[in-house]
Amino acid sequence: MSRRGKFITFEGLDGTGKSTHLRKLAAVLRAAGHKVVETREPGGTATGEKIRRVLLDSATEGLSPLAEMALMFASRAQHIAEVIQPALDDGKIVLCDRFTDSTEAYQGSGRKLGSEAVLKLHRVFCGDLQPDLTILLESDPAMSVGRARRRNRRTSRRQHNSSNKTASKHADENRFEQQTRAFFARVHEGYLAIAEREPQRVAAVDASGTPAQTHRRIVDLLQRKLRLGRN
Ligand code: TYD
Repeated sequence: MSRRGKFITFEGLDGTGKSTHLRKLAAVLRAAGHKVVETREPGGTATGEKIRRVLLDSATEGLSPLAEMALMFASRAQHIAEVIQPALDDGKIVLCDRFTDSTEAYQGSGRKLGSEAVLKLHRVFCGDLQPDLTILLESDPAMSVGRARRRNRRTSRRQHNSSNKTASKHADENRFEQQTRAFFARVHEGYLAIAEREPQRVAAVDASGTPAQTHRRIVDLLQRKLRLGRN
């Protein structure tokens, strides 16, 4: 598979600040003259965003763990075909909020489907596409998940209070946040196991300090690992 650009993924538990840090890093890279695509999973394409709504809406009931994993990969296969691979072919830097490590951590460990199934499906559905670098934002599970829950509750309330038309158009995104503490502990362990298995690709970044401190750590990491971000 051709690779003229760079593929960088952000991973971590809900509420670790991935999307904020992705945005800040994109700004730094653009200022340094790179062409950057910012995207996310599940989602990233029109079809993927529809799948996202099904996956994250707390009104989705009775979805089996295997169906959940299949939908994550359906969204991803479309995302690679429509967005990620064309951008890499075009020499761009792709910054992606979550990728297959999320499936390994959440469905593989959290839902107990195991890593082997995830890695097999990744070969089939994703042509085994691997990120050049994965930034794993690390903070205390209870703290980050609590933060995500508060944020999503605020967003749901806002949508509920706005016109009914808007509210019905946007699903809430609370389904995963409703999982138990034990589920997130398994997800956390899953991430640590991936980082241990693939130290060349996955770099854990301490995200427990201020946003500015974490941002500095991420920019330093990119300069060190990929020589990106220099002005
Ligand atoms: P995201 O929007 O990144 O949530 P947050 O901003 O709170 O971190 O991701 C949505 C949810 O989808 C998140 O709870 C993790 C879950 N998820 C999986 O379970 N498996 C996957 O493969 C992906 C991509 C996400």
